[in-house]
Amino acid sequence: MKVKKIYLNNYRNYSNLRIDFSDGLNVIVGANAQGKTNLLEAIYMCSIGRSLRVNKERQTINFNENRAEIIVEIERKYGKSTIDIILSKNAKKTVRINKIPIKKIGELMGELKAVFFSPDELKLIKESPEDRRRFMDISLSQMSKNYFYLLSKYEKILANRNKLLKEELNKTTLKETLDIWNEQLATVGSKIIYNRINFLKSLTPYAKLSHKYLTQDSEELDLEYVGIIGQDENEIKLKFLNEINKNFDKDIKLCYTTVGPHRDDIKVSINGIDVRAYGSQGQQRTCALSLKLAELEIIEKLTGEKAILLLDDVLSELDAKRRKRLLNFCKKTQTFLTCTDFKGQADNIIRISNGKAM
Ligand SMILES: Nc1ncnc2c1ncn2[C@@H]1O[C@H](COP(=O)(O)OP(=O)(O)OP(=O)(O)O)[C@@H](O)[C@H]1O
Ligand SMILES: [Mg+2]
Repeated sequence: MKVKKIYLNNYRNYSNLRIDFSDGLNVIVGANAQGKTNLLEAIYMCSIGRSLRVNKERQTINFNENRAEIIVEIERKYGKSTIDIILSKNAKKTVRINKIPIKKIGELMGELKAVFFSPDELKLIKESPEDRRRFMDISLSQMSKNYFYLLSKYEKILANRNKLLKEELNKTTLKETLDIWNEQLATVGSKIIYNRINFLKSLTPYAKLSHKYLTQDSEELDLEYVGIIGQDENEIKLKFLNEINKNFDKDIKLCYTTVGPHRDDIKVSINGIDVRAYGSQGQQRTCALSLKLAELEIIEKLTGEKAILLLDDVLSELDAKRRKRLLNFCKKTQTFLTCTDFKGQADNIIRISNGKAM
């Protein structure tokens, strides 16, 4: 899929912006603090339905305004569509697909498939398991609305179970009530885990290839799902229930659920060594990039549609060889790349200065 046009109104430092994009490599050039990342943020918001930089979306509305709008025109395999998002300081956000408001954010999933990478994505390797779970969850949700709904369902069940753990009930009553939640948690949770395990299985060969490509065959990447694993949903569910029962006392003591997909992780290693603990900054960055490039490939393989690639400020962080190889990779799909200066070939160069395209 491709983003053909964007229109921004009062979004961050853009009062009115209209840009036509090219199908290939779009390079967004400008000095610091001109609005390059803001532009990518707006495109990505149309993909995942929220900002990836701030939790409070109203912060993305221009300081002096009460309402902001983003419209993107998309060309998909079977025709065109538009997504528009209206943000308001005193009302709920509305998201429309082809001018029809959606009722649940899940309906947006997959409408604009996008992979985002910025220096901040280093956290995918470096930081807590939550970042790696988010990577799997955003990816899977873009490929399956059903997965997104499973996640929402799981979060509700988990919140109910945790609430119960905080109530001061006697142990027998608590056990009986918890059993009902446990069954639901394990039913939905095992589906989530099974999806994630399969996702990693499909992703791994592509991640290995991208990593070999970026490092000129010098590094062998491996990925492993860390959590309750099994051959099928049923086996995972039984193991999950078993773990929940084993951790009953611990859960009561801590007042939250200590096992389940909300605690799982991905172990990333290079040449057999855990990158999170031992990798250099550059290795961690390249690993994160390899995962994202692999994500791009499996989205196409599993859905038949190419995701767009958003690369924020990544060139300055890579050495010359890796940079060249990355730019070569970008030819596979429509790419939006931001940088402060660009020497090279692009299909479209957009110069941004103080919230305006030159
Ligand atoms: N809600 C807002 N209203 C108006 N301006 C905003 C708002 N939010 C952020 N800005 C402005 O947007 C500018 C930053 O834009 P952005 O992060 O896109 O810069 P950039 O071009 O990516 O810079 P860099 O090269 O440093 O990454 C800042 O000057 C900031 O003050
Ligand atoms: Mg920026």
